[in-house]
Amino acid sequence: MRRTIAPAAGATLLAVAAAAAVAVGLASCGGGSGGGGSALPLGLGAGGGAAAPAPAVAAPAAAPAPASGPLSLAAQVGQKMFFDKALSGSGQMSCASCHDPAHAYAPANDLAVQLGGPKLDQPGTRAVPSLRYKEFTPAYADLLDNPDGISAPGPGGGFTWDGRADTLADQARVPLLNAAEMANASPADVVRKLQAASYAPLITQAFGAHVFDNPDTAFASAVQALQAYQLEDTSFHPYTSKFDRYASNKLGGNLSPAEVRGLKVFTDPATGNCASCHYQGAGLNGSSALFTDFSYEAIGVPRNAAIAANADPTYYDMGVCGPLRTDHQPASPGAANSFCGMFKAPTLRNVATRSAFFHNGVMHTLEQVIRFYNTRDTNPELWYPIVGGQPKAKNDPAFPTYGLITTQYTGGTVRKFDDLPSAYLPNIDPQMPMDGRKPGAKPPMSEQDIHDLICFLHTLDDADTTAAQPLKPEDCAQ
Ligand code: HEC
Ligand code: HEC
Repeated sequence: MRRTIAPAAGATLLAVAAAAAVAVGLASCGGGSGGGGSALPLGLGAGGGAAAPAPAVAAPAAAPAPASGPLSLAAQVGQKMFFDKALSGSGQMSCASCHDPAHAYAPANDLAVQLGGPKLDQPGTRAVPSLRYKEFTPAYADLLDNPDGISAPGPGGGFTWDGRADTLADQARVPLLNAAEMANASPADVVRKLQAASYAPLITQAFGAHVFDNPDTAFASAVQALQAYQLEDTSFHPYTSKFDRYASNKLGGNLSPAEVRGLKVFTDPATGNCASCHYQGAGLNGSSALFTDFSYEAIGVPRNAAIAANADPTYYDMGVCGPLRTDHQPASPGAANSFCGMFKAPTLRNVATRSAFFHNGVMHTLEQVIRFYNTRDTNPELWYPIVGGQPKAKNDPAFPTYGLITTQYTGGTVRKFDDLPSAYLPNIDPQMPMDGRKPGAKPPMSEQDIHDLICFLHTLDDADTTAAQPLKPEDCAQ
């Protein structure tokens, strides 16, 4: 669900609407405690991948993916480019270096940010997302209709963590030219490398004999090729998870009791409420179960000291309001702006394969992320720095070890939301499971809920992937 850009009054209405939306999903779940494959949540029946083939070249980002079939010439060019390390300033980095096909097109390592640039020593500022299931992403809009059909329109759509690229083609320009990524000097620099590539004849075959006459049109064709590859190749949207088999009532799609309970936690507005943003129902453009509604929210992810840019205390990555994105910036530093702190609610498909979570990669296990959702408000001292307190010589035995802060303090104040200037704290989304409850209050999810939710989230991993923290079958059987 999206938070409105209007102030308080609307927020209550929205919260009610979201609760209603999720309740609808749950009701059709058969109570959520059945034996599995036969009780389908609303809108999950249709397989999202089985749609008409995408047009060969200028396919819009939102075009449905083809079920199968040979790649168009443009997509074949895109495939060559995707794995071509020569298309970088270092000569050693391709798209696949950060978006590894063996890891659902996300990094193979657990670094918060990757190193790139001419000497592969320049750190990025954001975690690398998976490239899977982006084929239905619409262009960014301040007031995008919510796929749940009930929540009010709000910021949604677009590529990257802040939505600044409208299409996969626009997006591809960024890493090719970014000084900390593939670090080409200019579009013309990329085009020169393409002309020298072994697959240059394929490029002229796909885009015409005169494609190289003008560097700008050649570059435009090249990024179209990368888009066509990501839209057409089914490895970007295989729909082979256990959840997909469950949703389409196929063999092997029986969720275990723990997984079914986890699905209920995921959708239940009173506990996890994950589905209100990581929406699993019928989505835009004929999609279904993408586990995102493409919306942006500020959830107050802690600052990550491991990101070099954060050594500057005046630097804040505030998502939609900048600095990487430049069309929603505050008029002056600290000036009112409802977009500051908002990042995209990403798809949770293949999330259990990841080793760096959130836009800044500050967390490294799924369990830690879920515990953050559960205790951000009830135990902020586990997630944000303490100012003015005394570190205890020895933690109390009951002090949890799963937080980002592992030292217990006496006294002092927690600097909650330490990665957002205080002017923008009102932008923090107030809905469950982070509803602003008091420190020391009971968290919304029980230990059993957390266990079950982890079991459920693992069912979203595609068949060709390996979980970052693999579960034993008996972990989730009951
Ligand atoms: C050095 C690592 C690196 C390389 C190389 C790289 N990317 Fe990325 N990619 C990223 C990061 C980091 C982001 C998130 C950027 C942001 O939010 O500003 C990203 C985001 C994306 C997205 C948006 C996904 C989403 O969820 O919206 C797409 C699409 C993408 N990259 C495609 C590519 C393509 C195509 C190439 C090769 C031309 C490429 N990337 C090369 C690091 C990389
Ligand atoms: C209010 C909307 C909202 C709710 C509710 C919500 N999320 Fe999120 N989720 C987000 C946003 C926004 C991000 C990205 C935040 C960032 O990076 O700053 C995110 C990121 C994540 C990530 C990191 C994914 C990645 O690729 O790095 C995981 C995992 C996740 N959420 C799981 C959950 C689970 C599980 C629940 C329920 C317990 C949940 N979320 C509830 C909005 C929400």
